[in-house]
Amino acid sequence: MRVTFLTLFPQMFTGPFSSSIIKRACEKGLVEIETVNLRDFAQDRRRTVDDTPYGGGPGMVLKPEPVFDAVEAITRRKGKKPYIILTTPQGEVFRQSIAAELAAKEQLLIICGHYEGYDERIRTLADRELSIGDYVLTGGELPAMVMIDAAVRLLPGVLGDPAAAENDSFGSTGLLDYPQYTKPAVYKGMAVPEALLSGHHAQIAAWRKKQALLRTLKRRRDLLTQRPDRPDVDFTGEAGKNIPGFTRTDEE
Ligand SMILES: C[S@@+](CC[C@H](N)C(=O)[O-])C[C@H]1O[C@@H](n2cnc3c(N)ncnc32)[C@H](O)[C@@H]1O
Repeated sequence: MRVTFLTLFPQMFTGPFSSSIIKRACEKGLVEIETVNLRDFAQDRRRTVDDTPYGGGPGMVLKPEPVFDAVEAITRRKGKKPYIILTTPQGEVFRQSIAAELAAKEQLLIICGHYEGYDERIRTLADRELSIGDYVLTGGELPAMVMIDAAVRLLPGVLGDPAAAENDSFGSTGLLDYPQYTKPAVYKGMAVPEALLSGHHAQIAAWRKKQALLRTLKRRRDLLTQRPDRPDVDFTGEAGKNIPGFTRTDEE
């Protein structure tokens, strides 16, 4: 996976990609990350990339020429058109399944906006417009990093144990993760559930499955109602009453 960030602030990317799991993924060659400074494609001496909006109004708008020129130059250099993402609060809201789709792409180019937004014509460059949630940030750098962090950890070889990503919230089960405990077995009067201490694999798996379901039911019922893999279960009724093996006394 090769990722190019087109940005006005390349320095913002140094920290997050030079530590921990993502750093190791880069060192292992599982992902290649580069930044391209949009200002390098400005057409005047003052390296201007923005201008006032037609029709008036507050703020500045990213000009089309530097973005089009940058995308063209990057595509030429790569020898292949990258999959182009435009970061925008108006885009499709990012989620785990999109992270998996991005992880499968060979070449990604993420355009990080700034100011009041983009000249509308820039949108025609994008294969996909993505938002990281219903709030507005100052620029597209943090959203771009969030998306790539989520995608990189799904690449084979990035996490020590591939099962880790599958068990994560929104992973292969589509549920939130089950509660986790480590030593000591009792801390400040709070005991680790018996099932986890049993050493009995089937019992532990059953406990975890049930807890993941309960947690999802309680915190994110919307994830259950969206489960096309379980047309047999009506998750919409009164708390869990239709879910096999679940009783109200099981609630957290
Ligand atoms: C201040 S915002 C512009 C918001 C724009 N006026 C609007 O309301 O759609 C500047 C840039 O930050 C990025 N950005 C801000 N919030 C975002 C979000 N929730 N998801 C993705 N990108 C975002 C986009 O690249 C955007 O062009």
